[in-house]
Amino acid sequence: MSNFNQERVLSVHHWTDTLFSFTTTRDTSFRFRNGEFTMIGLKVNDKPLLRAYSVASANYEETLEFFSIKVPDGPLTSRLQHLKEGDPILVSRKATGTLVIDNLVSGRNLYLIGTGTGLAPFLSVIKDPETYERFEKVVLLHGCRRVKELAYGEMIQETLPKHDLLGEYVEKQLIYYPTVTRDPFRNRGRITDLITTGKLFDDIGLPALDAEFDRVMICGSPALLQDTRALLLDRDFTEGNQGESGQFVVEKAFAER
Ligand code: A2P
Repeated sequence: MSNFNQERVLSVHHWTDTLFSFTTTRDTSFRFRNGEFTMIGLKVNDKPLLRAYSVASANYEETLEFFSIKVPDGPLTSRLQHLKEGDPILVSRKATGTLVIDNLVSGRNLYLIGTGTGLAPFLSVIKDPETYERFEKVVLLHGCRRVKELAYGEMIQETLPKHDLLGEYVEKQLIYYPTVTRDPFRNRGRITDLITTGKLFDDIGLPALDAEFDRVMICGSPALLQDTRALLLDRDFTEGNQGESGQFVVEKAFAER
């Protein structure tokens, strides 16, 4: 049996010249935990060309969603960006990853730190009722260079609070904090700087990060991971992974090619 299901593209949304999202059918046998990634791709010259992608939809939804950059010369993304409704796409039968709440020890508030397409796994985590049952406040930080790159802002602020199952949780517990570094905007600066200066905590009305109470998930570029990890280790946070839960977990954002 193949390790892949052949799915079909259901919709495509282009956010900017460099960012797009698409939804696909979902084989009923495909299981994943919110926050995990899987391999997806296309057949090119009869061979599968695959990359890891976080699943941006929640594990109880009937369709799958992915959030991608477009790299002009990228072997896969240069092709994926031309996807149209009805096109075939390969999706692995397995999912894995560290950004799942089971990899975190219990705590009070959960911080989800994503830059660029590193937002994707957290879209699934914020749609999981268990996230709100385990944590008092869920703070979603999305850092981008430009305002137009703050994809999904409307879904998070307008649609989710009206969701049948999640609306009440989202209204009471989710704090969405988008920030940009290269445009004027209400929130400005790198997430690491906003944490270090304390500006983030003043803005959202929560106490500064504390390893005893706070839990963190990080997804972005290698540089973001490195700097945020250093910042947390400096504050005595312990890192968790698939084998052992900790006070924070990290994963690099995928599909840079
Ligand atoms: P900046 O514009 O100052 O580089 P990228 O597209 O390069 O992945 O960046 C996405 C966002 O993440 C940008 O706002 C960028 O800020 C920020 N960023 C990049 N590297 C880091 C880092 N090491 N620590 C914190 N934020 C970062």
